[in-house]
Amino acid sequence: MLGKDSLKYNGARRRDKAPFPWPRAPLTLSAMTDPRIGIIGAGNMGLALGAGLAAAPAPRARLVISDRNAEKRARAEDLGVSATDDNEALARESDVLILAVKPQHLKALCATLAPALERARPLLISVAAGIRVEDLDAWLGGGQWIVRAMPNTPALLRAGTSVLYAGAGVPARERALAETLLATVSRVFWVPEEALMDAATAVSGSGPAYLFLFLEALIAAGAKAGLPPALAADLARSTTLGAARMAEGGDVDVATLRARVTSPGGTTERAIASLLADDFPGMMARAVAAACARSRQLSAEWGAS
Ligand SMILES: NC(=O)c1ccc[n+]([C@@H]2O[C@H](COP(=O)([O-])OP(=O)(O)OC[C@H]3O[C@@H](n4cnc5c(N)ncnc54)[C@H](OP(=O)(O)O)[C@@H]3O)[C@@H](O)[C@H]2O)c1
Repeated sequence: MLGKDSLKYNGARRRDKAPFPWPRAPLTLSAMTDPRIGIIGAGNMGLALGAGLAAAPAPRARLVISDRNAEKRARAEDLGVSATDDNEALARESDVLILAVKPQHLKALCATLAPALERARPLLISVAAGIRVEDLDAWLGGGQWIVRAMPNTPALLRAGTSVLYAGAGVPARERALAETLLATVSRVFWVPEEALMDAATAVSGSGPAYLFLFLEALIAAGAKAGLPPALAADLARSTTLGAARMAEGGDVDVATLRARVTSPGGTTERAIASLLADDFPGMMARAVAAACARSRQLSAEWGAS
């Protein structure tokens, strides 16, 4: 195990923490402007967030990622993020602690972190699908500031989308800090009710996978239609990017954008008619409903206290 003193936050020296502030003190100004960020879990999401935050110009990244897996720690170091295997030291030393392990591993992790967090009281951000604030707080002994975030993997390129929900009692300043951090790697949207996190997970958390599947299918279809596969891939990728940029601003709704490229009697109209005949909207609705149901199931399976 690496010791407490081995934590080297990227880019800055660790400062001493006030001993046992109780009742809890708000985060200090330097924690708000220059927070020491710990991430536990250097998997797909933890690494995407870590690498994105490390690359962000502000707030100045003081970042350590923890994982029990040596290979994952090495990957983090390759991406320029300091790594440790000492979760508890990280919990004690961070102003903001991001929990990025699988939902099924979260309860066991919380049991090991609870004593350290009882004293340290960082702002906690959980990215785990399905696990409710109430359950997390109960696992951690109560009284923690917890924000749930559902980011997605384009955070790696600082082009992610995150949906946030703040548990009761998280002060406005700490909510703003959570937003500032996630905003370095993603566009941020708040939801007022935790129940909406399931649907948000189904749309934006899982969404990149739907688009990748769409791309896979379009590339395969292009190749089947006679294009060299590499050209089919280039056309599909480039078209997706261009269309996404047209949709991005939201000035024109997407149905209108579609209508504008669908000339009566033209090629696009035939393709769209084929997709609608195959109930493409129904397929998407069923896919999103399935992801939503799985998110609720994860709460029931892994979230109950
Ligand atoms: N992937 C996405 O696109 C995405 C999007 C939004 C939200 N999320 C959420 O992000 C979380 C992580 O997902 P992921 O896909 O990144 O999972 P992942 O690839 O499995 O990464 C999690 C990492 O955490 C490690 N870990 C587990 N328990 C640990 C502990 N107690 N101490 C230290 N390390 C520990 C795991 O090690 P082992 O491999 O040894 O278990 C693994 O390396 C999930 O809760 C998921 O719901 C994911």
